[in-house]
Amino acid sequence: MKPRVDIRERLSDQEVASVVALVDAATEADSVRPLNEHVMLHLRYGGDPGARVVLLYDGDELAGFAHVDPTDQVEGPSGELVVHPAHRRRGLGRRLLETALTESGGRLRLWAHGDRPEAGGLAASMGFTRVRSLWQMRRSLFAPLPTREVPAGVRLRAFDPATDEEAWLKVNARAFAHHPEQGSWTLDDLRRREQEPWFDPAGFFLAVRDAGSTEGGAPTGAGDRLVGFHWTKVHGDDDPHAPHGHNAIGEVYVVGVDPSEQGSGLGKTLTLAGLCHLRARGLAQVMLYVDEDNPAAIRLYESLGFTRWDVDVMYRHS
Ligand SMILES: CC(C)(COP(=O)(O)OP(=O)(O)OC[C@H]1O[C@@H](n2cnc3c(N)ncnc32)[C@H](O)[C@@H]1OP(=O)(O)O)[C@@H](O)C(=O)NCCC(=O)NCCS
Repeated sequence: MKPRVDIRERLSDQEVASVVALVDAATEADSVRPLNEHVMLHLRYGGDPGARVVLLYDGDELAGFAHVDPTDQVEGPSGELVVHPAHRRRGLGRRLLETALTESGGRLRLWAHGDRPEAGGLAASMGFTRVRSLWQMRRSLFAPLPTREVPAGVRLRAFDPATDEEAWLKVNARAFAHHPEQGSWTLDDLRRREQEPWFDPAGFFLAVRDAGSTEGGAPTGAGDRLVGFHWTKVHGDDDPHAPHGHNAIGEVYVVGVDPSEQGSGLGKTLTLAGLCHLRARGLAQVMLYVDEDNPAAIRLYESLGFTRWDVDVMYRHS
């Protein structure tokens, strides 16, 4: 019987259960989850208007699943797909990807998890190019952490939304000038995160110098100059953004140092201050995301005991 494709915006409870069973079977076979948390949430609770799911049936059995999200106006449509392990190498992956491409108008960013050869093979065979590889690194927080002096003239204090937003946006843009996704954050982007249940200024460290002592960084409303920051985050069990099925885990969310202060060890000092904070909160583990093509950051995190835990690869079509 010819495989049958069904394109939908919402799924019934029974269909969601079939997709979850397919995802579990693939996770078991590949040792990595094929879909990110956002897609799993979309499945369970409905998601961004306009996003589509593709169900691929072989007879009565659900053999493949794809999710296409055309809502990102800046970066373009994105998607993920998975074929049940018992139905692989029969052209179903190709069929799903062709359907996803048609749904997205021929332009698609495809995310694959775990950097496995079959994903790379399928993507290449359909004319996709590998454009980005995002590492997730982790470290235990049980082991004690080294202490480190802050550079002379620098103080660490907590972020205060009342005085520090503008300065933070400036230093973030300067620190991430070569990383458009992070460097182009606006006041709206920042405030949206301040509204999140996980937002905690006590875990958002700023490195500041006295006003007048430096031309670098950016002046804050508190009368000092911001030269670097480390924003930590805690994912809890009841946090919808949490990595699947874990107890609370800390995250090095963003570390940035103003170019005027780079190379002085401030990045390491700030990272350690955040790790000590997370450890003091009783968390057992900390994770972070870093681009594979950022060897300086990877070296810093490795020197602090982080190792690669997982990798997400992005392939792009036109
Ligand atoms: C990647 C995946 C979707 C492939 O599904 P599939 O139905 O087995 O793929 P197809 O049979 O359609 O294969 C199409 C092409 O992909 C490539 N491919 C598929 N499996 C491969 C493997 N194990 N090694 C190398 N290339 C592979 C080949 O070029 C293949 O063409 P060919 O059969 O003519 O050689 C499937 O292995 C899967 O679900 N993996 C987990 C989820 C995932 O990685 N998703 C991201 C996809 S980019």
